[in-house]
Amino acid sequence: MYQPKPLNWKVFLTIPAVFVLLFVSNSASAVNATPSASPSASPSVGVSPSASPSPSNSPNPSPSASPQPLPTTPSIPGRGLDLSTPSSVTLLVNKQTPLTIIDWLDNPADRATWLRNIPGGRMHKAAAPNFIKLAKAMKAAGAGTLLVNSSFRAYSTQVFIHRNQVARLGLVAGEALAARPGYSEHQTGLAVDVSAAGQGCVIQTCFANTKAGKWLAANAWQYGFIIRYPKGQTDYTGYQFEPWHLRYVGVPIAAEMKNLRVAVYERYLRLPAAPTY
Ligand code: DAL
Ligand code: ZN
Repeated sequence: MYQPKPLNWKVFLTIPAVFVLLFVSNSASAVNATPSASPSASPSVGVSPSASPSPSNSPNPSPSASPQPLPTTPSIPGRGLDLSTPSSVTLLVNKQTPLTIIDWLDNPADRATWLRNIPGGRMHKAAAPNFIKLAKAMKAAGAGTLLVNSSFRAYSTQVFIHRNQVARLGLVAGEALAARPGYSEHQTGLAVDVSAAGQGCVIQTCFANTKAGKWLAANAWQYGFIIRYPKGQTDYTGYQFEPWHLRYVGVPIAAEMKNLRVAVYERYLRLPAAPTY
């Protein structure tokens, strides 16, 4: 049976990690917790202190204000960010916004240019080093060894995953979990599905309650990652709660979303909900 790989630079797997998403069981025994990843996070790992949420930056968010206008948000949809260039780290992909190049990164030359290895897969070259830092920091914090279950996916891989999830769960539940080909952030290399060695709840919502899941929810922003499909936001995102799906958007944006207490990327961008195709 396939075992998700710990962050061990000795082993770089690419394709097999995908299968975990499809056939994963609730068995923590399937996880190989070989503690070979060094916890030697250097002081430079992570982000500069200036990226920390600062009370002076806080727009005084009210807990009850979730759908209301964001005080520091420019009133332009998309905030002037590059949401459409396929290689942009701020690229928007959702059920209303497919990739503009549907088979982006299916070309080997483009993969060589834009993707970098991480233990257990590949990610966008801007995301990969930050993901490594994230994993080191999580380990150093005692929150566990991060495992990669699925990172970059080719178009054909997304076809396979989407087809299998729909066959397994039916159209509605299947499409709340797997994007249609051409609509997945995994095709950009900016998304990664993670779990933690020995903590169970692999690709399950209970991952949010694990030590690793809690640490990631609190700290992933420092490395430029957001929990892309937050709890209770299916009407906005079109996807069920996926505490394991991390999306790289870059530190400034992840930090600003944290400061503003805006969990949903579309909401941060002042764009409409995308619950359906
Ligand atoms: N699980 C996410 C939504 C995807 O398939 O891209
Ligand atoms: Zn995912």
